[in-house]
Formats: sequence, C-alpha cells, structure tokens
Amino acid sequence: MTNAAERGRRFRVRPGGRLSGALRVPGDKSISHRAVMLGALAEGTTEIGGFLEGADALATLAAFRALGVEAEGPRRGRLRIRGVGLHGLRAPDGPLDLGNSGTSMRLLAGLLAGQAFDSTLLGDASLMRRPMRRVTEPLAAMGARIDTSAEGTAPLRIHGGQRLRGIDYALPVASAQVKSALLLAGLYADGETRVTEPAPTRDHTERLLAGFGYPVHRDGASVRLSGGGRLQGGPIVVPADISSAAFFLVGASIAPGSALVLEHVGLNPTRTGVIGILRRMGADIEIEDQREVGGEPVGRIAVRHAPLYGIEIPPELVPLAIDEFPAIFVAAACAQGETRLAGAEELRVKESDRIQVMADGLAALGITAEPQPDGIRIQGGRLGGGQVRAHGDHRIAMAFAMAGLAAEDEILIDDCTEVDTSFPGFVDMARDAGLAITVEAGA
Ligand code: S3P
Repeated sequence: MTNAAERGRRFRVRPGGRLSGALRVPGDKSISHRAVMLGALAEGTTEIGGFLEGADALATLAAFRALGVEAEGPRRGRLRIRGVGLHGLRAPDGPLDLGNSGTSMRLLAGLLAGQAFDSTLLGDASLMRRPMRRVTEPLAAMGARIDTSAEGTAPLRIHGGQRLRGIDYALPVASAQVKSALLLAGLYADGETRVTEPAPTRDHTERLLAGFGYPVHRDGASVRLSGGGRLQGGPIVVPADISSAAFFLVGASIAPGSALVLEHVGLNPTRTGVIGILRRMGADIEIEDQREVGGEPVGRIAVRHAPLYGIEIPPELVPLAIDEFPAIFVAAACAQGETRLAGAEELRVKESDRIQVMADGLAALGITAEPQPDGIRIQGGRLGGGQVRAHGDHRIAMAFAMAGLAAEDEILIDDCTEVDTSFPGFVDMARDAGLAITVEAGA
C-alpha cells in the first residue's frame, strides 16, 4: 500500500555480485487470494499452508473478516478459515479497502454482486486509477448493479439483492481477473455462466473451484459453471510464486558465476511464460522434481548464468508472463541485440504504467529503450549506474534491484513501496543470495 512513508523508501544496490544457494520465495499471490475467497464461501474449515503474508493477500483476508468470516493466522504461512457457506457472508460495517490489490477488487466485485447486501470497494491511489469497467460491464449484463466513478474506476458501489443470471461472455482482453470475477458471480447466478478467453490466462480459480468440489467445465477456450452448487473446504498448499521467483531467474541469468536453486515453485502452464521467454533468450534454466501438489504443478528450478540474446517475444507468451515483464526487460537490457515486445498494452494499466516506467528507468541507466503503445523495444547494452523511480510499483522496484548485478555502478531506486505487496522479505532474501542491496529512507 502506498503511503507517505513507503513512498520515501529507496533501494541502494551496489554493482556486481552473483546469486547462489537454494531458496524458497513466498507463496503465490493469485492462489493465496483465491484460497481465502473460496475458503470463506465453503462449508467447513479450510487450512491453508504457504499462504502469502503480503499486503495484497492480507487485504483480501481483511475484507473477508469484515464480511463476517473468522480466520486464525496467518502465522508462518498457515491460515485457517472457517467457511460460512455461499450465503453466509454478512454486510460489512463500512467500505472495504483493498489497498494496492487489483485482484482483490476485481474478484470481489464479482463475488459481492451476488450478495443480498450492499458493499463499497476502494483502494490506494494506484488502485483507484485502474480500469474497472472490464468487470462491471459484464457483471451488469448478468443483472448486477455496480456504480463506478465517471471514469470507470473505484470506488465501486455494489448494490446487493439483485437476481443474477448466467451469461455467455467472450473476454475482449485476456484477463484472469475478469474471468474469475464472472465465474465467482456465476456461483450466484441462475443457469450457466460461460467465459471464453482470447488467449489462455491463469486458471487458478477453475482449479481451486474443482478442488473445493464445485463442477467446472472447460471446452477449448471456454470455461463454464452453473450457479447453485456448494463448496467444501479442505487443506490447500500454496506453491512458491513464480512471479517472485522471476526476479531471481533474471538476476542469476545476468550475473556471471551465479548458480541458484528455487524450491517448490508453482509451475502452472498458464504462469510459466517467463521460463519460455528467458530460455529463448539463452537462459540456462532447468526444472527438476516436477510433481502435482493440491491440484497445481510444482517443481524445483535450477538457474545458472548464461549469455542472453535479444528476441522477439512470441505473442502467445504475453498473457502467460504478464506480471514478469519488468524483470524480463532487465534481462533484455543485459542481452546482446534487440528485444521486441508487442501486444502487451495491458502493462500500461498495472500497478503503474509498466512500459513507460521501465523505459524511463532503463534510459536512466544508459539503455536504449523505445516504448510503444503496446510494448517496447530494448537494445541490450552496458547497464550503467544511476537513479530510477519505481513509482510505488513493487515489481518495478524488484526488477531494477536485480539490474544491479549486471550494472557498472550503483543503482538508486526511489519511490519503492513496501515490496511486501507481493514479496515480504525480498530484501533479506536477495541479500542472502548475493545482491548488495540496502534500504534507506528516500529523499
Ligand atoms: C491476476 C491476473 C493478472 C495479473 C495479476 C493477478 C490474478 O491480471 O496481472 O497480477 O490473480 O487473476 P489480469 O487478469 O488483469 O491480466
């Protein structure tokens, strides 16, 4: 969450070093959100292990507590939720503040549209700027009543007591958040809700619904469910977040002498675009001990330094690597030749405008980076030192921190939020692995 104190945080990264050792990054953010949501709506108790104790997932948990759900923890990744059943949520006393978390807001919009009571959703300055019509419009087609600002942003005022009906909806943008919002509303709708994706997006909602015993069907690019079922709680193990592992995959790839092992990483094929992209660039990444845990594939990733080459990023990998582009851009800056990305306009409406913010930061470090409306061209070269701004975006801050491994001089990263949004303990873990990073109060 962005507040004045956090805006003032600065990372200072001394150049050089290498990454080594074995580490387990924190739990997957997307799965942690969904585990809380479905655990709350289930019957019986849901025990979650490996829960991400980061601000975003904690915002979802706080929202469900405000909706009358009892939960114990989280303590060292363990969280126990007493499900209230699909119709057991209570009206909250006031607005639900979801901080920096787009996933919380969009998924909750769908889920709360089906409740008997009114609710209001808000968040920090970044979240209040993000587009919400992508969920409110199809939800309205299902019979929901949700008011946004004139610009289509939060606060979202959700009018309860509406009768929802299933729809057959083709997503105009590849978005797991929109798909999930509609499926969650579909739990409360008459008839069938069917969502068709223009390209595959993360499917954790579908997998977890099935894990809770709710019938969900996939045919090709479509997923569908019918309202009126029940969810049964049970144990959930959240794998380590590949989106957090991505910073270390890039760091080890660009720093000579690096050899790093990342344990128990979620390897859901709708999330592994970063591995495909880095491998195409020449990265030395091996996957070992792959197995299925709680309905999600996991495995160990071994990564070593390797010379990287610029590539044209295959369009089909874009939605499968959507959160990893800040890190991938740093890899591109260290690669020989040009890397080109297109078809990624979504990056402009993430926690920051990740195309512009990364282009500005790379330019400040001496790299030629040309932003395009839907992507970027990055000419690999010598990363100098310099001062960049993270614009309060956790993934920008961590990506530029890793750039220090290949830089010729010190990098100062201003306007870092608590990277705790998605990765509590990043600074200590990165330092232990070999990154020369310190945190200070910013200017
Ligand atoms: C997420 C989906 C993605 C991703 C976000 C988490 C999710 O957003 O960027 O960090 O958990 O469903 P979109 O679905 O909007 O692309």
